[in-house]
Amino acid sequence: MIKRVRGTQDILPARFTDKVDAQIERRNLVERTARDAFRRYGFEEIRTPIIERTELFERGVGTETDVNKEMYTFEDRDGERVSLRPEQTASVVRAYIEHGMFNQPGLVKLYYIGPQFRRERPQKGRYRQFSQIGVEVLGQSDDASIEAEVIEMLEWYLKALRIDGTVLQINSIGDENCRPAYIERLRETIRQQLPNLCGSCNQRYETNPLRVLDCKVESCQPYLNELPSIADSLCEPCRTHFEQFKGLLEERGISYTIAPRLVRGLDYYTRTAFEIIGDKLGAQNTIVGGGRYDGLSQMLGGPPTKGFGFALGIERLIMSLPEDGAENLKQAPLLFIAYIGALARIHAFALAKRLREAGISTIVDLEGRKLKKSLAVANSLSARYSLIIGDDEIEKGSYVLRNMATGEQRNSGEQDLIATLRNDER
Ligand code: HAM
Repeated sequence: MIKRVRGTQDILPARFTDKVDAQIERRNLVERTARDAFRRYGFEEIRTPIIERTELFERGVGTETDVNKEMYTFEDRDGERVSLRPEQTASVVRAYIEHGMFNQPGLVKLYYIGPQFRRERPQKGRYRQFSQIGVEVLGQSDDASIEAEVIEMLEWYLKALRIDGTVLQINSIGDENCRPAYIERLRETIRQQLPNLCGSCNQRYETNPLRVLDCKVESCQPYLNELPSIADSLCEPCRTHFEQFKGLLEERGISYTIAPRLVRGLDYYTRTAFEIIGDKLGAQNTIVGGGRYDGLSQMLGGPPTKGFGFALGIERLIMSLPEDGAENLKQAPLLFIAYIGALARIHAFALAKRLREAGISTIVDLEGRKLKKSLAVANSLSARYSLIIGDDEIEKGSYVLRNMATGEQRNSGEQDLIATLRNDER
């Protein structure tokens, strides 16, 4: 038997899987709710290709980042290097430049929903193919109200999904004016601690010292807590921006904690960095990650453009949904039609078509099963009603409609049937 690739998932109707993040109904719920929330805030949808030139991510995400090292990259037949996208911000900014969206007078507010690929070690909440919902705000303004509004929208979205127990963590990681001096200071302090730090810290010290702050290894923590904080090294404009951002969150009643060591794992960030942490997830507990990336457009050869956005992992979001309420997400058909005999079969098909035209989800036995077996199928599908057609029913033009859960039965003609079922359709 050929099995699926490690770290990937089949997304199935809920009746085939207990793994909540593999259930299509929950995916549809979070995607539908996102579209609704984002529409209210004036975001437009964008879809970009799953494959991009490798160079896009090398320039955007950075060659020394984990995300870049985890990319699925291959050489196409014409020798061009292409990669499965590990994230979508770089793709959205590429599309923004390529389609001249910067010619618009105002901010361009885009959202996307789709699969991403990273060759990580799979574990709970971590896959090699996973899905993100993300938004990006692009344009000439870096007003902190952009950050505040996007985070307000996120809070609204999480509330609509009844997800609670999350924590918003924020930080500022400075910009090209203040960060280089900070990194020098940081490198200097880390150097003195190198023998005490783990292998990955030692490596990051060489390639990307900022990421040392991100290390989760227990034995490193006491040393990392002693490192200089980036917030204390911000230049005046970055400090003002951060103060404004915090003030705007407070104005909106959004609570946050400052995470001085939050630096994020992609090279394009400037100033604002944030994450939303869930309480139902174990080690992979970051549901949302985002930040400002004012230099990314230029890194990709585009015009100077400011940007801010986030992406959330759909799998982690789904694992954070409340347990209850999943019942009404099921895709069960409303009505199952069984029949006895060849004439009734023809009648059943015609009736089913009329009911479907009336908006009622209907399944007819296509396999010509015996009545008992047919009803067993209705049961396994969790159909809410069933109806059996025989010679009698055809003659009288009246059917016995059975509520599968209660066993209650009633006689109805076609119009009554439609009225009753319509009433029951979600
Ligand atoms: P990121 O932090 O790399 O940011 O990913 C965002 C979210 O995607 C994570 O918080 C997590 O929920 C989910 N995620 C990442 N890797 C995996 C994985 N292997 N399995 C399951 N879920 C995963 C970005 O991707 C940026 N593009 C976010 C952004 C948008 N920044 C500005 N705009």
